[in-house]
Amino acid sequence: MAEPDVILKLNNLTKTYILGSRKNAARAQKAIQKLQKSYEKQLGKNQPDMIAEQLLQKAQELFVNEKYEQSYRLVTGENLQKRSKDRGSVVHALNSVSLEIKRGELVAIMGPSGSGKSTLLNMLGLLDEPTAGQIFLKGKSVTSIKNRDLPDVRSRELGFVFQSFNLIPTLTALENVCLPLKYAGLRPRRRKEVATLALERVGLADRLHHTPNELSGGQRQRVAIARSIVNNPAIVLGDELTGELDSKMTADVMKLVVSLNKKGQTFIIVTHNPDVAKVCRRVIYMRDGRIEKETKRLTKGLYGYRQ
Ligand SMILES: Nc1ncnc2c1ncn2[C@@H]1O[C@H](COP(=O)(O)OP(=O)(O)O)[C@@H](O)[C@H]1O
Ligand SMILES: [Mg+2]
Repeated sequence: MAEPDVILKLNNLTKTYILGSRKNAARAQKAIQKLQKSYEKQLGKNQPDMIAEQLLQKAQELFVNEKYEQSYRLVTGENLQKRSKDRGSVVHALNSVSLEIKRGELVAIMGPSGSGKSTLLNMLGLLDEPTAGQIFLKGKSVTSIKNRDLPDVRSRELGFVFQSFNLIPTLTALENVCLPLKYAGLRPRRRKEVATLALERVGLADRLHHTPNELSGGQRQRVAIARSIVNNPAIVLGDELTGELDSKMTADVMKLVVSLNKKGQTFIIVTHNPDVAKVCRRVIYMRDGRIEKETKRLTKGLYGYRQ
């Protein structure tokens, strides 16, 4: 069967934090989540209930507009008395975000600090659960995947690159890249072969046996990228992956990202750096937990990227 073009799809994704004693908000949220769960169950059986979906959306809308009492009433049919001593705050880290990521895309996520970029990336990476809304990975609802299967799905389908490399300092480049293959159950000899290939792909064939402190920042990030692609994941996610690199190393790392992307690897990168965003064909701008706007580029980019 041909793989679907859309790898990852977010549907009205919302992540809300209730801080302090916001009792009405907490009760409304609980009621919404209960409705969400029953709706998810129906999704799993492939019989989506349109009424439940509409109800859910309406309740969520009221909720984010701080109409907790109405939201609760809509879902449960019961009244919730307004409380004057309800203290604290409600943070909508993500507010009804809908998004489709297609195979082969190179996407940058930008936006001011606190706008929800990391929260969004954590959702896309299946590292955190949404408060409401659905995530579909290759057309399959992620909420229908059992919790114990999630790490497996994550390691097969997703690669991660972090700002601070997260390499194990006592292991060589080769051993670091071997690790995900160990979890995937490959035999030691096969692990070494596959990891060596990945390090060759990032231009580090001559650095296999160096430990991280014997490598430059740019080289360390290349090792981290080799580790992220070694399992041949559907998507690689990066949070500020050039955040600790100077402009020359940033250019080197982005050239590598672009060349891997040209060969078909899908990337989603959170960044503050306009030079990094410039090489990405699609840029998503976040503000206050929402997608504010999106741009798509078809022309030649900064590091020689061609459409
Ligand atoms: N665990 C948490 N508890 C409470 N609020 C949080 C938590 N994580 C994130 N937030 C809030 O959610 C919003 C989005 O955060 P984040 O996704 O980290 O933004 P960004 O990565 O764009 O800087 C911020 O207002 C932040 O304070
Ligand atoms: Mg962040």
